[in-house]
Amino acid sequence: MDISEGTEYWLNINSEAEAKGKVMTGDWEKTTKQHLEILKKLDIKPTDIVLDYGCGVGRLLVPIRENCKQIIGADISDKILSYAIKEVDGKTLFLSLKDETGKGLPLEYFDKAYSIIVLQHIEKHKAIRTLIRINNSLKIGGWMLIQFPNLNELREMYTLYMKNKYSFGSLEPRMEFYTRTELRYIFDMLKMNYTIEQIGTDYIVTAKKTKNIIPRDFFVGGHTWK
Ligand SMILES: C[S@@+](CC[C@H](N)C(=O)[O-])C[C@H]1O[C@@H](n2cnc3c(N)ncnc32)[C@H](O)[C@@H]1O
Repeated sequence: MDISEGTEYWLNINSEAEAKGKVMTGDWEKTTKQHLEILKKLDIKPTDIVLDYGCGVGRLLVPIRENCKQIIGADISDKILSYAIKEVDGKTLFLSLKDETGKGLPLEYFDKAYSIIVLQHIEKHKAIRTLIRINNSLKIGGWMLIQFPNLNELREMYTLYMKNKYSFGSLEPRMEFYTRTELRYIFDMLKMNYTIEQIGTDYIVTAKKTKNIIPRDFFVGGHTWK
């Protein structure tokens, strides 16, 4: 797999405790409650097919699947997924991703898609591709909800991170922070109907799919994306 600096962090896991420690560094119960509250915005229905992009060990997928028809948890780390697999029931599937941009997601399959604490760990130019693939995996009229850490709220943490970036060693996760302007730029470019809401130190973007997007149609800095 062709991976960016920082992605190794998710692939090198030796125990369930390590997997759980990496997917959630804060208070598990409290944060899960907060995230489930945010996910109510997606209005998941019993008829919905749902994507959890970067599902980790299934922290959110397990409660969310109670309310939908089918759920697919996709993740780049087979090791992490191996600790989620035991949570399988008849309507849950797991998809082991072979690249960082969501290659392998089915096309026009999902009614709803969400991604929590994931996009921040993907290099920005790859994250845009990932969003395109999530968009294309939705049915027309389907909705995505994506969480991004807010650069302005976390400026101090970001500055510290940048200062230490090269002394962290190879097994630190990549961290990317966004401004509202950047998010507007991205979602305008994707031609999605979206809203951006600030909740705590995060931006929550909810966006409705209007059409499929062909990545090579995107021009950034005069270069065609391949
Ligand atoms: C901080 S954990 C969050 C897991 C889960 N979303 C949750 O909230 O409990 C980040 C997850 O994203 C996965 N991940 C990291 N980069 C990814 C990528 N490019 N594509 C898909 N999954 C990725 C990691 O393997 C890990 O399971």
